[in-house]
Amino acid sequence: MDVRSESLGQARIDREKGSLQVIQRTRLQVWFIRVCSSIVIWTCLVQLVAVGELWHPRLLTGLSSRKNGVSTLSIRVEDVVPAPPVIVSARNYTSNGFLKVSCNGGLNQMRAAICDMVTVARLLNLTLIIPELDKKSFWADPSNFDDIFNVRHFIDSLRDEVRIIKRLPKRFGRKLGYQTLEMPPVSWSKEKYYLEQILPLYAKHKVIHFNRTDARLANNGLPLDLQRLRCRVNFQALKFTPEIEALGHKLIRILQKNGTFLVLHLRYEMDMLAFSGCTHGCTEEEAEELKRLRYAFPWWREKEIVSEVKRSEGLCPLTPEETALILKALGFGKDTQIYIASGEIYGSERRLAALKTAFPRIVKKEMLLDPEDLRQFQNHSSQMAALDFIVSVASNTFVPTYDGNMARVVEGHRRYLGFKKTIQLDRKRLVELLDLHHNGTLSWNEFSIAVRLAHESRMGQPARRRVLIDKPKEEDYFYANPQECLCEGTNCDDLLGPLNSTVAT
Ligand SMILES: *[C@@H]1O[C@H](CO)[C@@H](O)[C@H](O)[C@H]1NC(C)=O
Ligand SMILES: *[C@@H]1O[C@H](CO)[C@@H](O)[C@H](O)[C@H]1NC(C)=O
Ligand SMILES: *[C@@H]1O[C@H](CO)[C@@H](O)[C@H](O)[C@H]1NC(C)=O
Ligand SMILES: *[C@@H]1O[C@H](CO)[C@@H](O)[C@H](O)[C@H]1NC(C)=O
Ligand SMILES: *[C@@H]1O[C@H](CO)[C@@H](O)[C@H](O)[C@H]1NC(C)=O
Ligand SMILES: *[C@@H]1O[C@H](CO)[C@@H](O)[C@H](O)[C@H]1NC(C)=O
Ligand SMILES: *[C@@H]1O[C@H](CO)[C@@H](O)[C@H](O)[C@H]1NC(C)=O
Repeated sequence: MDVRSESLGQARIDREKGSLQVIQRTRLQVWFIRVCSSIVIWTCLVQLVAVGELWHPRLLTGLSSRKNGVSTLSIRVEDVVPAPPVIVSARNYTSNGFLKVSCNGGLNQMRAAICDMVTVARLLNLTLIIPELDKKSFWADPSNFDDIFNVRHFIDSLRDEVRIIKRLPKRFGRKLGYQTLEMPPVSWSKEKYYLEQILPLYAKHKVIHFNRTDARLANNGLPLDLQRLRCRVNFQALKFTPEIEALGHKLIRILQKNGTFLVLHLRYEMDMLAFSGCTHGCTEEEAEELKRLRYAFPWWREKEIVSEVKRSEGLCPLTPEETALILKALGFGKDTQIYIASGEIYGSERRLAALKTAFPRIVKKEMLLDPEDLRQFQNHSSQMAALDFIVSVASNTFVPTYDGNMARVVEGHRRYLGFKKTIQLDRKRLVELLDLHHNGTLSWNEFSIAVRLAHESRMGQPARRRVLIDKPKEEDYFYANPQECLCEGTNCDDLLGPLNSTVAT
């Protein structure tokens, strides 16, 4: 399986490279001219700033301090110069109107939503406005789309499917009498809903604004071309900004210099614990603090939570201490290089002690990079998450301790790159085993064997998504296993096994 899937991924990458190279050669001249002209423009700009500073010092300090921040970044030039653009010819269609979207949630939830919204715009022949990102989520990141993603590439590489523009033309604004219809589309909908319920609304409204975007498209039952478009946006059109890409790849190079590495997405962060109500292993004061936080945020609707019940149902992220035992049981040794992809761990050093004792080669981005390199990303949780995303996708093994959006979207990306190993922890089974080991029922050996057995088929191997009729939240998520995009050029039955008729409800 491994060899075949590796070569499959490689074949896809080679094929893409092949077609890219042809286009690249022909576009190289244009690109060269562009690079030269950017150098000229940049030089002019620097001059202008110098002159401006004599002239109008306050106005331009923002610009010049940003320039200083960039110039002290020790990134390689080839990482920063944009790749030659790939220009495809635009699809010829009559637009039925404009689609504005405001994404909600963290980086990876928004990423999946952007893929869905492009797909909806394509289906309905709309003009998509560059999505607005969530600025009001728990971490209040003020980043805009173009602070995180490469906008030019996004627009250009999807030209043959859908028209995407940066902002609504003024002539369709409210001032000239155009009423925007604001609404959240129904979750987990199929193409029929958009064609029958949304499209007719464009007879009255030139602009529709979707004010929620999470999980608005069903996992299953959509036409193959739409499923493939969701993948194309995810795997090809969405690239991070050159600054984020450069720093992400710098992290990868540093890690690879020391051998292979495992990325642990240790989702033991304050927002997660407050929201899930999971307080196993916390002190009483910590449990109180988390509870207060949960009550303070109106959109976390579930308020009264019994932590131990939730934990026994497998609905809590593993604690750092539990994670240390599980990694050991899975056979990872003391010499394993582990990169922690997370924000601040709740309870910080105290909670990480057991993990650090078991795995001394634990690192995180703050330890690998110069503080100066990270400075411009520091206060932007989504940009920090983007760095972790890049490292997670590239790792030899990826282990998430909770199946949130990051875990699932990264898992899907790794499948696309040749079914790279992602260990999908079975938390319900694991807490059972952990408790039995802790009370002495299971010896270390018995515990370790049971943990391994439980995960033999949970390593990100080729598999079909589990379909549960009318339970979209519980079935396998499209972006965690976009199977329609993983067996191009081969028979899906060969790779994934025969297609069963829909599984139980
Ligand atoms: C686009 O399609 C319309 C109708 O099919 C056609 O009249 C028009 O010439 C096409 N435009 C281009 C640029 O191909
Ligand atoms: C979208 O445009 C294509 C080509 O112009 C046309 O065939 C199709 O019917 C249109 N679909 C909708 C929903 O407008
Ligand atoms: C979205 O729009 C609807 C209708 O205007 C409104 O009731 C709802 O509160 C809005 N939701 C958000 C998250 O803004
Ligand atoms: C790489 O490994 C060496 C030797 O084990 C160690 O001294 C060094 O700190 C490691 N570097 C990083 C970035 O982890
Ligand atoms: C980040 O935010 C903190 C607290 O709000 C502030 O003290 C710090 O200066 C900020 N750092 C940067 C690089 O903006
Ligand atoms: C250990 O816990 C399990 C269930 O949690 C229980 O059935 C068992 O009796 C316990 N064993 C001991 C020795 O306490
Ligand atoms: C499909 O059927 C095979 C054998 O009939 C079974 O082993 C497998 O678990 C089924 N797959 C799913 C996703 O139910």
